[in-house]
Amino acid sequence: MGARILGTGHHVPERVVTNHDLEQIMDTSDEWIRQRTGIEQRRWVVPGTGTAELASHAARKALEAAQLDPEEIDCIVFATLSADYFFPGSGVLLARELGIAERGIPAFDIRNQCTGYLYALQVADAFIRQGIYRRVLVAGAEVHSTGLDHTTRGRDVTVLFGDGAGVTILGPSEDPERGILGIYLHSDGRFAEKLMIEAPTSREQPHISQPMIEAGRAYPSMDGRFVFKNAVRRMPEVVHEALADQGLRPQDVDHWIFHQANLRINEMVARQLELPPERCYRNIHKYGNLSAGAMPALLDEVVREGRIAPGDLICMAGFGSGFTWGSALIRW
Ligand code: ACO
Repeated sequence: MGARILGTGHHVPERVVTNHDLEQIMDTSDEWIRQRTGIEQRRWVVPGTGTAELASHAARKALEAAQLDPEEIDCIVFATLSADYFFPGSGVLLARELGIAERGIPAFDIRNQCTGYLYALQVADAFIRQGIYRRVLVAGAEVHSTGLDHTTRGRDVTVLFGDGAGVTILGPSEDPERGILGIYLHSDGRFAEKLMIEAPTSREQPHISQPMIEAGRAYPSMDGRFVFKNAVRRMPEVVHEALADQGLRPQDVDHWIFHQANLRINEMVARQLELPPERCYRNIHKYGNLSAGAMPALLDEVVREGRIAPGDLICMAGFGSGFTWGSALIRW
């Protein structure tokens, strides 16, 4: 038996930070950011709000959409690169936020950055196919803002990211034709340092120190052009892999949900695949890059706008730090 999506939800913090707001704190411009990324604004938490808390708001909306109580969830799979703590992971904290910690259900933590949601989805899909768990909550969430360099030194990365969460509830599909058709995942660790946060690191004692912070090693670093080039190569590649495996063509896909890292990346991917722009959805202009939260949040928006009909085919694809990349085909 395969898995299908029972409900979706997303949540972003209230505080809107526009490109003009960033101009006030660092040497950047609305024009630079818009032209290169398509981002107009993003949401930032009030410090004190953690990743699991953001995810819990999205989870409650997804549970409501699935008409389930938190108590009916058998397993949590939580994808994030910005966990509340170095350890334990945010999965156990999400269970606690949902008031179900005492039930003792398993909580997995996935660390695959912008592809994390797809990795989490495959774990959940496999559990349901094997009959190990029936109802699995898949969360992708990030609090980036508190971990970014808010000075000009960090501008190449800081302008790109925002805070937010998306949750998908999965359960068994009674109809073999509908649900998750396939998920295709890859990684290439040769380029791990091309997009990373170095500290805290187990390679040093202590894992984090004042000199490391002052040197900027606790902030993300990125070779933007290298990431861009690899993203526009790997995303079409893994979409072709998925379609070929399922005997489908790009024109069979009704809805395209790409990772929201940069509008230019997605425009180049869409051009290569010759996709109609109106079927390639986006929310990067208002949220920036939500990493693991991006695809589930966008999926939820599209679902709530009533764009997806039963039987429609959805293709998701993403690329991120690791490098990791992947795609998913879902028959709604
Ligand atoms: N505001 C103004 N100027 C800036 C900013 C900024 N925020 N950031 C960098 N610059 C400057 C640089 O200092 C540099 O100046 P210099 O030429 O005087 O040295 C110049 O702008 C660089 O400009 P470009 O080379 O034109 O930048 P580019 O076109 O490569 O765009 C960008 C940069 C947007 C980061 C692009 O490389 C990109 O999008 N890469 C992919 C990034 C990405 O998607 N990351 C996340 C994906 S994976 C994940 O989600 C974890």
